[in-house]
Amino acid sequence: MNEKPWYEALFENYGQKYDRECFTQGTQGECNFLEQELGRDKSLRILDVGCGTGRHAIELTLRGYHLTGIDLSEGQLSHAREKAAQQGLTIDFRRLDARELPFDREFDVAIMLCEGGFPLMETDEMNFSILQSVIKGLKNGGKFIFTTLNGLFPLYHSVEKFCAEAGGTDNATYRSNTFDLITFRDHNITELEDDSGKKISLDSNERYYVPSEITWLLKSLGYVKIDIFGAKLGAFSRNDKLTTEDFEMLVIAEKF
Ligand SMILES: C[S@@+](CC[C@H](N)C(=O)[O-])C[C@H]1O[C@@H](n2cnc3c(N)ncnc32)[C@H](O)[C@@H]1O
Repeated sequence: MNEKPWYEALFENYGQKYDRECFTQGTQGECNFLEQELGRDKSLRILDVGCGTGRHAIELTLRGYHLTGIDLSEGQLSHAREKAAQQGLTIDFRRLDARELPFDREFDVAIMLCEGGFPLMETDEMNFSILQSVIKGLKNGGKFIFTTLNGLFPLYHSVEKFCAEAGGTDNATYRSNTFDLITFRDHNITELEDDSGKKISLDSNERYYVPSEITWLLKSLGYVKIDIFGAKLGAFSRNDKLTTEDFEMLVIAEKF
């Protein structure tokens, strides 16, 4: 029995394998979209929330942007630091909890991709505190760009089947999924071999949000101009109308 929450246990020693997961292969295309959203303004200060192994932070730094990456997992961060050093980059990667960020109107843009920490927390209040904490760190007029799990998808599809079809041979697997229609949480057993070859099995659950909930949560915190789209890996686009076929959605909001 693991005493840590599943999302801490999962990311303890998973950085190398994480970078080989099928869902982390769209970094270049995702950064192309981010650059468009940033108007290619390299003076902007960008916060990467739940930056993981730093794949977006590193790519954007290579393209000339200024990033701070925060994550709860020291394992993910040390892999991010190693990769950055190999490319001769110094990036400010810090171990912080997205529920209680120390920043006060410091950033022009916040990104939180491939979920970051947001829908992984064990209560809706904790998830909400991440949105709250990010807005505090943004300057007025700052932009928040994130992807999260689309609550419309599990109403029409089996999450277990989707993950099985998407996964490669050496990737984490998800079984015994049950989607709870009251809480909109998908409970599953997540299994993987970590970077040291240790087999891990975790009782996990993630919160899926419907678009109108996200809009309301963000509005209640003072975010404006909230736009929601489908989020195709590596091919984010404002032309991608969200449907029930999208596993993830792309959210873009501004701080008033
Ligand atoms: C699915 S990964 C996404 C990583 C990265 N953004 C990407 O696109 O690959 C989720 C990350 O969120 C981090 N995380 C989970 N809970 C967190 C929290 N409360 N605060 C900060 N990071 C958190 C995990 O450690 C993990 O690195």
